[in-house]
Amino acid sequence: MKILAIETSCDETAAAVVEDGRRALADVVATQIDIHRRWGGVVPELASRNHVVQVMPVVDEALSRAGVGPDGIDAIAVTSGPGLVGALLVGVQAAKALALAWQKPLVRVNHLEGHLVAAFLSETAPAFPFLGLVVSGGHTSLYAAERFGAYRLLGQTRDDAAGEAFDKGAKLLGLPYPGGIAIDRLAKEGDAHATRFPKAIVKGSELDFSFSGLKTALLHHVKKHGVPEGRGLADLCASYQEAIVRALVEKAFRAARRLQFDRLVLSGGVAANSRLRAAVSEKAAEYEGMEVFLPAPRLCTDNAAMIAVAGTHAFLRGERAGADLNADPAWRL
Ligand code: KG4
Ligand code: ZN
Repeated sequence: MKILAIETSCDETAAAVVEDGRRALADVVATQIDIHRRWGGVVPELASRNHVVQVMPVVDEALSRAGVGPDGIDAIAVTSGPGLVGALLVGVQAAKALALAWQKPLVRVNHLEGHLVAAFLSETAPAFPFLGLVVSGGHTSLYAAERFGAYRLLGQTRDDAAGEAFDKGAKLLGLPYPGGIAIDRLAKEGDAHATRFPKAIVKGSELDFSFSGLKTALLHHVKKHGVPEGRGLADLCASYQEAIVRALVEKAFRAARRLQFDRLVLSGGVAANSRLRAAVSEKAAEYEGMEVFLPAPRLCTDNAAMIAVAGTHAFLRGERAGADLNADPAWRL
């Protein structure tokens, strides 16, 4: 079974063809990072306009790389939420038009479900049930994944998402968008113990996250000492990154132990962070019997292959979207 998927929820125009929900025959991502960088973040109107230009060429590219024509496709899957409404609409309209023109079934996919099942594209896929941690620009959420299509939200951020903490922190330090990548790179040369940041804790709920205090602490630090240069900047990046990573790792493993999960699956753009990946692997070694699944970085950041995986199983369950499918910018998983 081959599914064509389209993803346009934020600033990547993506299309993919995935076979049997496991193998990406093509996974094309046209990023708009260079367009948004000069504005210091994603500008929704620019994102929509560029999706309009890119979406059909990206679909063509995916089909041609996969070596299939419309006849070889069983269904079309599209991200219909959550995300930027104008950006989502471009993908939804494109998918509806293709489904109509090619007479193919259409299924809608929740972007967060896509992240949760990205690991099924790796050579070793997780088995259900697993604890899923989605850490992206818009979300920091822990889910109990029971089977395809069945996820229970266990905890989430009360304020900023982990990706926002990276991006806003980077902005304070004068680093380019997307900040997570810039901080990750600089932190490699720095000492994570150079500056102490407060522990990102949340009163009342042990499975929720909070990152706004960390950002405020960085703001105070910069106001007091200015933005350091050279080695000092690398040290500050490493320390700040370490505080974000520590909060994510501690919560995820605490939840796994408490709820007796022995599989932890990470995903979302922040799961591409090299320090987080190392810290999760180190911590897993301390927890006997704990299996950790870290999809390759390009599967962690936004892509359509993960949407195709979720779409394949929605299609197999018999889910279908009609011509009235609309973008659902606040769709909760
Ligand atoms: O999943 P994603 O591509 O898009 C959303 O659904 O939000 O995540 C984007 C986020 C951005 O905040 C970006 O700074 C962050 O992922 N990110 C990283 C890294 N690569 C991307 N954060 C930390 N380290 C990285 N290497
Ligand atoms: Zn995402």
